[in-house]
Amino acid sequence: MCGIVGYIGNRSAQDVLLGGLKRLEYRGYDSSGISVINSDNSKISTQKSPGKIAVLEGLLKKKPLGGNLGIAHSRWATHGAPNHINAHPHADCKKEISIVHNGIIENYESLKTGLIKEGHHFLSQTDTEVIVHLIEKFYKNGASLEEAVRKSLRLLAGSFAIGVISSREPDKLIGARLGSPLIIGVGKDENFLASDVPAVLGSTKEVIFLEENEMVVLSKDSVRISSLSGKKVSRNPAHISWDIAQAQKQGYKHFMLKEINEQPKIIENLLKMRIKGEKVIFDEQKIPEEKLKEIKNIFIVACGTAYHAGMVGKYIIESICSIPVSVDVSSEFRYRNPLLDKNTLVIAVSQSGETADTLAGIKEAKKYGARVLSICNVLGSSLTRESDGVIYTHAGPEMGVASTKAYTAQLMAFYFLAFYLAELKGVLPREKIAQELAELKKIPHQQKDILKDQAAIAILARRHSHLGSFLYLGRHVNFPSALEGALKLKEISYIPAEGYAAGEMKHGPIALIDEYRAVVCICPQSHVYEKMISNLQEIRARRGKIIAIASLGDKKIKEQVKEIIYIPLCSEIFSPLLVVLPLQLIAYHIAVKRGCDVDQPRNLAKSVTVE
Ligand code: AGP
Repeated sequence: MCGIVGYIGNRSAQDVLLGGLKRLEYRGYDSSGISVINSDNSKISTQKSPGKIAVLEGLLKKKPLGGNLGIAHSRWATHGAPNHINAHPHADCKKEISIVHNGIIENYESLKTGLIKEGHHFLSQTDTEVIVHLIEKFYKNGASLEEAVRKSLRLLAGSFAIGVISSREPDKLIGARLGSPLIIGVGKDENFLASDVPAVLGSTKEVIFLEENEMVVLSKDSVRISSLSGKKVSRNPAHISWDIAQAQKQGYKHFMLKEINEQPKIIENLLKMRIKGEKVIFDEQKIPEEKLKEIKNIFIVACGTAYHAGMVGKYIIESICSIPVSVDVSSEFRYRNPLLDKNTLVIAVSQSGETADTLAGIKEAKKYGARVLSICNVLGSSLTRESDGVIYTHAGPEMGVASTKAYTAQLMAFYFLAFYLAELKGVLPREKIAQELAELKKIPHQQKDILKDQAAIAILARRHSHLGSFLYLGRHVNFPSALEGALKLKEISYIPAEGYAAGEMKHGPIALIDEYRAVVCICPQSHVYEKMISNLQEIRARRGKIIAIASLGDKKIKEQVKEIIYIPLCSEIFSPLLVVLPLQLIAYHIAVKRGCDVDQPRNLAKSVTVE
């Protein structure tokens, strides 16, 4: 939920840390701060501020912090309001230690009470501050900073990724993680800590992913990893193929628009990566094939957009490989004692791989002996480490808070998985699979055709940007598309929007239809097309403003609707991959027209790592 960065080297820590923070702003941005050990007097200097990182940058321009060792933080508040005093970094009583933290310390109240009794003085309402006072408590009688940190972390319940520095040991940067991501950037005579890869890509592509319960002690020229219990760990850096440009906007006005337009390329890459000859292959998936053959039922668990991908996944898997599938939002799944056993496959879908409810859901699933396969976009994320098998979506860094390319990459993972299982279980002949894969290979080109018309879609969207609410209607495999379209609009434009199964219209939503509301109807050619046409007639009769998404060449729909966005004709089961592009663009252009902060919508963060 927050972004942390650490630096030790020969350059200005302030400049490196600010650059890193900016690339992590999507993880949380309601306040930020930085601590640097001053190379002249070895004192810790700290600057922090509520608001976006640009505010902190302005303060540092006026009063720069000199030094080559430091830590920094961009926050999404969980304990304590997003204000100056609660912004990280936090310090001990004597201001000799400084810490940044991403996660939640669940037992912080009891720890804080004990520390106050021992004379410690707290300034903030945050859970984080207890950690730095614990370190202060243990950092005496000759104990090293490392030993004091180790002892402190053992007392914590909850999750943390931390960066710690001390003016008493101004040649060390310490990091540790449990339940929140932390990576090490390995440079030449400099090293980095960060919550995520984009923060370090401007300086190095050599990255080590810290695992759960691990700590690292960094100097300018050494990386020493150990378990929290002190056992030495050796791990080589992974080479990251992304360059920093991928994590920047590349000329688009917003990350979201860039990422919408990246989708054809990502799907092209996935098709090349996953299809060899006429077979689907997964290199990183580790669940043995004989175990997958025993699967009798599947549970899909996810949140938000990933949940909508899971809903499409249900239609895909049930129709292609005839395995029964249930879909749950993670926050429900984890508390409802699901009926799982060793023949159940739980598929966790998550772009970030750090969503707290989804992580908790799969921990619950493993208690029942279910195998867990995650569909995830972030290499080395917590979810991937908790899973028995992983299908990476390889969508590259998704910087916009509203998920777009990760969603279509998740859908692709379900298509590939369905054909893979169908082949494994022998439920589809090879020729049929080859035929379907040939259809799937048309999708990138078909998406490009839709994107060629995005200027027209923008004009249509802007024409409706004044409306006070939207209803999205879809059927069968595009019912989840309706939910996703509504989520996209509401989360970036703040317009109330609701997705509904079109067949449910008469059971309530029809009461909403009038000339002040737009109704987005998803009606590509399909076995339920005629049913959608009936819905259109019912909406027209009540003067609803209809925007239809229909298949190229559809003449009939013109009799019903004036505002139509056409998508290329494709197999019905693949249509969510095309339908979603107009839905994303409608949301984007309405939000821009309304002057909303498209990439960082209010109250939201890219990864919800708390319940
Ligand atoms: C999607 O646009 C939202 N930002 C949000 O619903 C998101 O999909 C959800 O929080 C799940 O995130 P995850 O995929 O990283 O687990």
